[in-house]
Amino acid sequence: MLISTSPLTEDLAGQLYPQPHYLQTQRRIKSLIDRYLSHEQLCDRLEDLPLQFQNPQPRPWKQIDWQVINYNQIICIKPEVFLSVLVGALDTEAPIRGYTQTSRQYLENLHPQMARFVGGTVDENGNLTELGLWEKEERQHTPTLLKIYQQLTGEKITPTLRTVRGYLPTDDPHEDLYCHGLHRVATEYGATCLYLWLMAHTTGTLQDILA
Ligand SMILES: [Fe+2]
Repeated sequence: MLISTSPLTEDLAGQLYPQPHYLQTQRRIKSLIDRYLSHEQLCDRLEDLPLQFQNPQPRPWKQIDWQVINYNQIICIKPEVFLSVLVGALDTEAPIRGYTQTSRQYLENLHPQMARFVGGTVDENGNLTELGLWEKEERQHTPTLLKIYQQLTGEKITPTLRTVRGYLPTDDPHEDLYCHGLHRVATEYGATCLYLWLMAHTTGTLQDILA
């Protein structure tokens, strides 16, 4: 079915163009940055952090109707390009447990609240007794991307299992945390950019899920 694409139709990335040219796609990306990465938004997240330390609350997801996902919701890129970017994202998201536990160990002594927020709590034998909020949110990403892939192609795939660089302390825990934190920030920043780019190239339910 061809959906009417009057130039006034809007989605989460602002104006929706049926056949966008470079500058129009750039405008969509800019509008996403304004929407999700504005100074106000980022400050709001930071100010929320102390509250989340006290009372961690996962953010709710929109209700998703998976059945309606289809190739028409991909804009201006070939479906096979979209799919390969999706697979790349999948391989970066997994395995989340490894990532959260490494971060928890670097943070444990220097910022116990952040350690708990990211990686939860463990007992004296190192068994996880409570999940961190960050892990609770992050662990939804891989299954979601897998589901998108399956919905579009009718095929099931499994993410490539990567080896996580584990906790490797030196005699300078501050420097260790600094380097680790920088690495994490760069990874998350990369993921954010990728998802915004994907959102600029999608619409409808597919875009809602990426949001
Ligand atoms: Fe993620």
